[in-house]
Amino acid sequence: MARKRLIVGNWKMYVESPEEAHAFALALRRRVRGFKGLEVWLAPPHPLLPDVSHVLESSPVRVGAQTVSAHSDGAHTGEVSAKTLKKVGALFTLIGHSERRIAGDTNELVRAQLERALEAGLVPIFCIGERERETDGEHFELLEAQLTSALSTIPKNTLKKLVVAYEPVWAIGKHAADAMQPSELQEMVIFIRKILADMLDRAAALRVPILYGGAVEPQNAASLITEGGVGGLLVGHSSAELDQFLEIIKATQN
Ligand code: 13P
Repeated sequence: MARKRLIVGNWKMYVESPEEAHAFALALRRRVRGFKGLEVWLAPPHPLLPDVSHVLESSPVRVGAQTVSAHSDGAHTGEVSAKTLKKVGALFTLIGHSERRIAGDTNELVRAQLERALEAGLVPIFCIGERERETDGEHFELLEAQLTSALSTIPKNTLKKLVVAYEPVWAIGKHAADAMQPSELQEMVIFIRKILADMLDRAAALRVPILYGGAVEPQNAASLITEGGVGGLLVGHSSAELDQFLEIIKATQN
Protein backbone atom coordinates (compact mmCIF):
# COMPACT_ATOMS: atom_id res chain seq x y z
CA MET A 1 0.00 0.00 0.00
CA ALA A 2 1.30 3.45 -0.87
CA ARG A 3 2.47 5.56 2.03
CA LYS A 4 0.15 8.38 3.02
CA ARG A 5 1.17 11.91 2.19
CA LEU A 6 2.19 13.96 5.21
CA ILE A 7 1.29 17.62 5.73
CA VAL A 8 2.99 19.22 8.73
CA GLY A 9 2.07 22.70 9.94
CA ASN A 10 4.82 24.64 11.72
CA TRP A 11 3.19 27.52 13.56
CA LYS A 12 6.55 29.10 14.46
CA MET A 13 5.52 32.11 16.63
CA TYR A 14 2.59 33.07 14.39
CA VAL A 15 -0.04 31.79 16.81
CA GLU A 16 0.66 33.55 20.08
CA SER A 17 -2.13 33.19 22.60
CA PRO A 18 -3.61 30.09 24.26
CA GLU A 19 -7.09 31.33 23.32
CA GLU A 20 -6.20 31.67 19.62
CA ALA A 21 -4.54 28.24 19.58
CA HIS A 22 -7.50 26.64 21.36
CA ALA A 23 -10.02 28.19 18.96
CA PHE A 24 -7.92 27.11 15.93
CA ALA A 25 -7.68 23.53 17.21
CA LEU A 26 -11.42 23.35 17.93
CA ALA A 27 -12.30 24.68 14.48
CA LEU A 28 -9.84 22.29 12.82
CA ARG A 29 -11.36 19.36 14.74
CA ARG A 30 -14.84 20.39 13.66
CA ARG A 31 -13.92 20.84 10.01
CA VAL A 32 -11.87 17.71 9.43
CA ARG A 33 -13.44 14.32 9.94
CA GLY A 34 -10.84 12.24 8.18
CA PHE A 35 -8.32 12.53 5.39
CA LYS A 36 -8.03 10.57 2.17
CA GLY A 37 -4.49 9.26 1.78
CA LEU A 38 -3.14 11.99 4.02
CA GLU A 39 -1.79 12.53 7.52
CA VAL A 40 -1.87 15.99 9.07
CA TRP A 41 0.45 17.05 11.90
CA LEU A 42 0.77 20.40 13.65
CA ALA A 43 3.63 21.97 15.63
CA PRO A 44 2.54 24.76 17.98
CA PRO A 45 4.92 26.67 20.28
CA HIS A 46 5.84 24.58 23.36
CA PRO A 47 3.47 26.17 25.93
CA LEU A 48 0.48 25.75 23.60
CA LEU A 49 1.26 22.12 22.78
CA PRO A 50 -0.56 20.36 25.67
CA ASP A 51 -3.88 22.11 25.06
CA VAL A 52 -3.75 21.82 21.25
CA SER A 53 -2.90 18.15 21.61
CA HIS A 54 -5.76 17.66 24.06
CA VAL A 55 -8.30 19.37 21.78
CA LEU A 56 -7.14 17.36 18.74
CA GLU A 57 -7.00 14.03 20.58
CA SER A 58 -10.31 12.92 19.11
CA SER A 59 -9.41 14.13 15.60
CA PRO A 60 -7.11 12.64 12.95
CA VAL A 61 -4.61 15.51 13.43
CA ARG A 62 -1.46 14.74 15.45
CA VAL A 63 0.61 17.29 17.35
CA GLY A 64 4.34 17.76 17.90
CA ALA A 65 7.08 20.24 18.80
CA GLN A 66 9.17 22.76 16.88
CA THR A 67 12.43 21.83 18.60
CA VAL A 68 13.76 19.70 21.44
CA SER A 69 16.62 19.87 23.92
CA ALA A 70 19.88 18.10 23.10
CA HIS A 71 19.98 17.01 26.78
CA SER A 72 17.93 14.20 28.25
CA ASP A 73 17.43 15.82 31.69
CA GLY A 74 19.14 17.84 34.41
CA ALA A 75 20.34 21.43 34.87
CA HIS A 76 19.48 23.04 31.52
CA THR A 77 17.49 26.19 32.20
CA GLY A 78 14.96 27.03 29.53
CA GLU A 79 15.28 23.73 27.70
CA VAL A 80 12.47 21.20 27.22
CA SER A 81 13.37 17.53 27.04
CA ALA A 82 12.05 14.99 24.54
CA LYS A 83 10.54 13.03 27.44
CA THR A 84 8.58 16.06 28.63
CA LEU A 85 7.36 16.81 25.10
CA LYS A 86 6.19 13.22 24.74
CA LYS A 87 4.36 13.42 28.07
CA VAL A 88 2.45 16.56 27.09
CA GLY A 89 1.21 15.01 23.83
CA ALA A 90 3.94 15.35 21.19
CA LEU A 91 4.18 12.65 18.55
CA PHE A 92 7.10 14.25 16.70
CA THR A 93 9.57 17.09 16.82
CA LEU A 94 11.18 19.25 14.17
CA ILE A 95 14.97 19.11 14.43
CA GLY A 96 17.51 21.39 12.79
CA HIS A 97 15.02 23.87 11.34
CA SER A 98 16.97 26.61 9.54
CA GLU A 99 15.60 29.24 11.92
CA ARG A 100 17.14 27.23 14.81
CA ARG A 101 20.40 26.76 12.88
CA ILE A 102 20.56 30.53 12.25
CA ALA A 103 20.00 31.02 16.01
CA GLY A 104 23.10 28.88 16.67
CA ASP A 105 22.14 25.20 16.55
CA THR A 106 25.17 23.43 15.07
CA ASN A 107 25.33 20.10 13.24
CA GLU A 108 26.66 18.51 16.49
CA LEU A 109 23.80 19.90 18.55
CA VAL A 110 21.30 18.80 15.94
CA ARG A 111 22.72 15.27 16.06
CA ALA A 112 22.31 15.19 19.87
CA GLN A 113 18.71 16.42 19.51
CA LEU A 114 18.04 13.63 17.04
CA GLU A 115 19.43 11.08 19.49
CA ARG A 116 17.28 12.43 22.36
CA ALA A 117 14.14 12.41 20.18
CA LEU A 118 14.73 8.81 19.10
CA GLU A 119 15.45 7.68 22.69
CA ALA A 120 12.15 9.19 23.85
CA GLY A 121 10.17 7.72 20.95
CA LEU A 122 9.43 11.00 19.17
CA VAL A 123 9.36 10.96 15.37
CA PRO A 124 12.19 13.24 14.22
CA ILE A 125 11.45 15.55 11.30
CA PHE A 126 15.00 16.32 10.37
CA CYS A 127 15.29 19.64 8.48
CA ILE A 128 17.97 20.45 5.95
CA GLY A 129 18.35 23.21 3.39
CA GLU A 130 20.74 25.64 1.77
CA ARG A 131 20.65 29.37 2.45
CA GLU A 132 21.41 30.22 -1.16
CA ARG A 133 21.56 28.45 -4.48
CA GLU A 134 25.14 28.32 -5.64
CA THR A 135 25.72 28.11 -9.40
CA ASP A 136 28.64 25.74 -8.82
CA GLY A 137 26.40 23.28 -6.99
CA GLU A 138 27.90 23.92 -3.55
CA HIS A 139 24.45 23.49 -2.02
CA PHE A 140 24.63 19.78 -2.79
CA GLU A 141 27.73 19.46 -0.59
CA LEU A 142 26.06 21.40 2.20
CA LEU A 143 22.99 19.18 2.14
CA GLU A 144 25.16 16.09 2.14
CA ALA A 145 27.12 17.43 5.15
CA GLN A 146 23.90 18.23 7.04
CA LEU A 147 22.60 14.72 6.44
CA THR A 148 25.77 12.76 7.12
CA SER A 149 26.90 14.73 10.17
CA ALA A 150 23.61 13.97 11.91
CA LEU A 151 22.74 10.53 10.63
CA SER A 152 25.92 8.59 9.98
CA THR A 153 26.67 7.72 13.63
CA ILE A 154 23.09 6.85 14.59
CA PRO A 155 22.28 3.11 14.62
CA LYS A 156 20.42 2.43 11.38
CA ASN A 157 17.73 0.33 13.03
CA THR A 158 16.64 3.35 15.13
CA LEU A 159 16.01 5.44 12.03
CA LYS A 160 12.85 3.64 10.94
CA LYS A 161 10.66 6.59 11.88
CA LEU A 162 12.87 9.28 10.36
CA VAL A 163 11.25 12.01 8.26
CA VAL A 164 13.46 14.41 6.28
CA ALA A 165 12.25 17.91 5.47
CA TYR A 166 14.05 19.76 2.69
CA GLU A 167 13.55 23.49 3.13
CA PRO A 168 15.61 25.81 0.94
CA VAL A 169 16.08 28.79 3.25
CA TRP A 170 15.79 31.30 0.40
CA ALA A 171 12.16 30.25 -0.17
CA ILE A 172 11.02 30.37 3.48
CA GLY A 173 8.52 33.06 4.40
CA LYS A 174 7.90 34.02 0.76
CA HIS A 175 4.88 33.45 -1.45
CA ALA A 176 4.06 30.59 -3.80
CA ALA A 177 5.58 32.31 -6.83
CA ASP A 178 8.97 32.40 -5.05
CA ALA A 179 8.93 28.74 -3.96
CA MET A 180 11.15 26.14 -5.56
CA GLN A 181 9.76 24.91 -8.86
CA PRO A 182 8.56 21.30 -8.85
CA SER A 183 11.06 20.33 -11.59
CA GLU A 184 13.99 21.59 -9.49
CA LEU A 185 12.54 19.93 -6.41
CA GLN A 186 12.47 16.59 -8.18
CA GLU A 187 16.24 16.80 -8.68
CA MET A 188 16.77 17.60 -4.99
CA VAL A 189 14.61 14.68 -3.88
CA ILE A 190 16.65 12.27 -6.03
CA PHE A 191 19.86 13.68 -4.54
CA ILE A 192 18.63 13.42 -0.92
CA ARG A 193 17.34 9.90 -1.53
CA LYS A 194 20.75 8.88 -2.91
CA ILE A 195 22.59 10.23 0.17
CA LEU A 196 20.13 8.37 2.39
CA ALA A 197 20.63 5.17 0.38
CA ASP A 198 24.41 5.46 0.81
CA MET A 199 23.96 5.72 4.59
CA LEU A 200 21.04 3.36 5.14
CA ASP A 201 20.24 0.56 2.77
CA ARG A 202 18.27 1.27 -0.40
CA ALA A 203 14.98 -0.18 0.87
CA ALA A 204 15.24 1.76 4.15
CA ALA A 205 16.07 4.97 2.26
CA LEU A 206 13.01 4.53 0.06
CA ARG A 207 10.82 4.35 3.17
CA VAL A 208 11.96 7.75 4.53
CA PRO A 209 9.35 10.39 3.70
CA ILE A 210 10.95 13.51 2.21
CA LEU A 211 8.93 16.68 2.74
CA TYR A 212 9.33 20.07 1.07
CA GLY A 213 9.00 23.38 2.94
CA GLY A 214 9.36 27.01 1.88
CA ALA A 215 6.54 29.23 0.59
CA VAL A 216 3.97 26.45 0.41
CA GLU A 217 0.53 27.96 -0.17
CA PRO A 218 -2.76 26.54 -1.48
CA GLN A 219 -1.75 27.43 -5.08
CA ASN A 220 1.42 25.34 -5.22
CA ALA A 221 0.79 22.60 -2.62
CA ALA A 222 -0.52 19.91 -4.96
CA SER A 223 2.04 20.38 -7.74
CA LEU A 224 4.98 20.32 -5.30
CA ILE A 225 3.84 16.83 -4.33
CA THR A 226 2.74 15.42 -7.66
CA GLU A 227 5.40 16.99 -9.89
CA GLY A 228 8.09 17.60 -7.26
CA GLY A 229 8.02 14.01 -6.06
CA VAL A 230 7.97 14.71 -2.31
CA GLY A 231 6.02 12.68 0.22
CA GLY A 232 4.49 15.75 1.81
CA LEU A 233 4.93 19.34 2.88
CA LEU A 234 6.18 21.35 5.84
CA VAL A 235 4.03 24.46 5.91
CA GLY A 236 4.88 27.65 7.81
CA HIS A 237 2.77 30.80 7.52
CA SER A 238 -0.11 29.12 5.67
CA SER A 239 -0.53 26.63 8.54
CA ALA A 240 -1.34 29.44 10.96
CA GLU A 241 -4.30 30.61 8.84
CA LEU A 242 -7.07 28.06 9.24
CA ASP A 243 -8.69 28.56 5.84
CA GLN A 244 -5.37 28.38 4.00
CA PHE A 245 -4.31 25.29 5.94
CA LEU A 246 -7.64 23.61 5.14
CA GLU A 247 -7.22 24.49 1.46
CA ILE A 248 -3.77 22.89 1.45
CA ILE A 249 -5.22 19.79 3.10
CA LYS A 250 -8.02 19.65 0.53
CA ALA A 251 -5.63 20.16 -2.41
CA THR A 252 -3.26 17.39 -1.34
CA GLN A 253 -5.65 14.53 -0.51
CA ASN A 254 -5.56 11.72 -3.01
P1 13P B 1 6.82 29.23 5.11
O1 13P B 1 5.80 28.23 4.69
O2 13P B 1 6.26 30.38 5.88
O3 13P B 1 7.70 29.63 3.96
O4 13P B 1 7.79 28.49 6.16
C1 13P B 1 8.37 27.30 5.82
C2 13P B 1 8.96 26.71 7.03
O5 13P B 1 9.98 27.17 7.51
C3 13P B 1 8.25 25.58 7.66
O6 13P B 1 9.04 24.96 8.62
